[in-house]
Amino acid sequence: MKKDTILILDFGSQYTQLIARRIRELKVFSIIEPCTIGATKIKEIGPKGIILSGGPHSVYEKGAPSLQKRIVGLGVPVLGICYGMQILVKALNGQVKEAKKREYGRAPMYIDDHHDLFFSLPAKIISWMSHTDQAMVLPKGFVQLAHTGNTKFAAIGNRKEKIYGVQFHPEVVHTEAGLQIISNFLFRICECFATWQLSDFITEQVNQIRKRVGKKNIICGLSGGVDSSAAAILTQKAVGRRLKCIFVNNGVLRRSEAKKVISVFRNHFKIDLHYIDASAAFLGKLKEVIDPEKKRKIIGHEFIRVFERQAAKIRNVEFLVQGTLYPDVIESTSFFGGPTSRIKSHHNVAGLPLKMKLKLIEPFRQLFKDEVREIASLLKLPQDIIYRQPFPGPGLAVRIVGAVTRERLTMLREADSILEDIIRKYNLYRDLWQTFCVLLPLKTVGVMGDKRTYEHVVAIRAVTSLDGMTADWAKLPHQILEKISNAIINKVRGVNRVVLDISSKPPATIEWE
Ligand code: XMP
Repeated sequence: MKKDTILILDFGSQYTQLIARRIRELKVFSIIEPCTIGATKIKEIGPKGIILSGGPHSVYEKGAPSLQKRIVGLGVPVLGICYGMQILVKALNGQVKEAKKREYGRAPMYIDDHHDLFFSLPAKIISWMSHTDQAMVLPKGFVQLAHTGNTKFAAIGNRKEKIYGVQFHPEVVHTEAGLQIISNFLFRICECFATWQLSDFITEQVNQIRKRVGKKNIICGLSGGVDSSAAAILTQKAVGRRLKCIFVNNGVLRRSEAKKVISVFRNHFKIDLHYIDASAAFLGKLKEVIDPEKKRKIIGHEFIRVFERQAAKIRNVEFLVQGTLYPDVIESTSFFGGPTSRIKSHHNVAGLPLKMKLKLIEPFRQLFKDEVREIASLLKLPQDIIYRQPFPGPGLAVRIVGAVTRERLTMLREADSILEDIIRKYNLYRDLWQTFCVLLPLKTVGVMGDKRTYEHVVAIRAVTSLDGMTADWAKLPHQILEKISNAIINKVRGVNRVVLDISSKPPATIEWE
């Protein structure tokens, strides 16, 4: 039986994947296609509903993506979100104009019609707005379903044709009952059944990988984190021993990292694991490099070169599996090509060389960390790996502000392992998204045993987060902070001061570089 599918047409919104994620949460299958997809392809997909995402453009702007009228004539229910609603209004001969007052962030919204899209919702909810333009004249057959103080047509609908538009973003958590609104669209309007589950995702990916790689060998860059570990085990299900995992010691790993990973994957999973010590090469290339983006790119490139050399030795290898997640992608790239929204080059996305011999397989490119943790649990990975805090590919190199030297690495490794031990001892490890130390490029004066010291500063970074895209600094108890500070200053040679980072993301990022 064909499963119920919701098709999301992407008009370039940063939230497109969030729409897909909400639909997955409601146990319905969804796929994302570019907004340029034709009506014939849509018929082939056979969706039960179509969602038009938001986007950064204005509908009348030159080069702005448009909507083919045929798509709304397919007899499939449609929901346009933000730009998606405006493009619907324009395509159906209504009118969109620049609003007198822009509307960003929280906006109280009053529901005028509770029949379907807003079924079972209260009369007033907080909606999340982010728009400059708005609908001024509705197309024929449409009525107003909700309004805000600033936007008369905050939601509209043509019940007969099953076409709806919302100016706000139901997919973001800040919109109250946003999930209920999407659920009403899926189940009341599109009449979907909630039958899809993450285990289906595993099956689909296993089949796709098998089909794509044929008789070739695959290599997987394994770091021991949950993303690459789950990607490796999923690929192993698809191709068995034709999967060769490569663990690269890049010289900027934490203490005992290599030993732990090798033991789990060789002994527990019986994976063909190749350990490559490339620390000298990485550290040589990083010598005296200070610019964070340069560090990231050097590491991204060097990883690929190591994989390519290893692939040549193994032979018949055409693919590289990576555990890339959606937040890595969205922070590294901008949808319409402009460089302005690149925040940092994640080593496995924008840090990759332009020319690569290996083709990428990235089964989790559309998923968020908590979804991958659920998959890892279905794949029976050890708890220790499932709940391991994220550790970035560029490793300690982006936690040493300034040049990376062996002496600084030793200091940071020691401080970091002290911090982790204390955080684990007080059972805080799993509640925190990440906890780590950062070594600052400055020395300050201290006094130890009546003597003056002039030594390094370590910063403690501890954050809570759901997906790494936004984060808050963790309010660790003072007694624990005191223990951490004392232990680091007493045990790590060369450090005489510990400070605490109390910045959220945004405006800061989690890593310092
Ligand atoms: P930021 O610093 O951007 O980090 O707030 C968000 C999350 O991503 C991790 N991170 C990376 N992970 N390669 C990775 O595999 C990278 O290049 C990279 N940069 C940042 C970071 O640790 C945090 O969890």
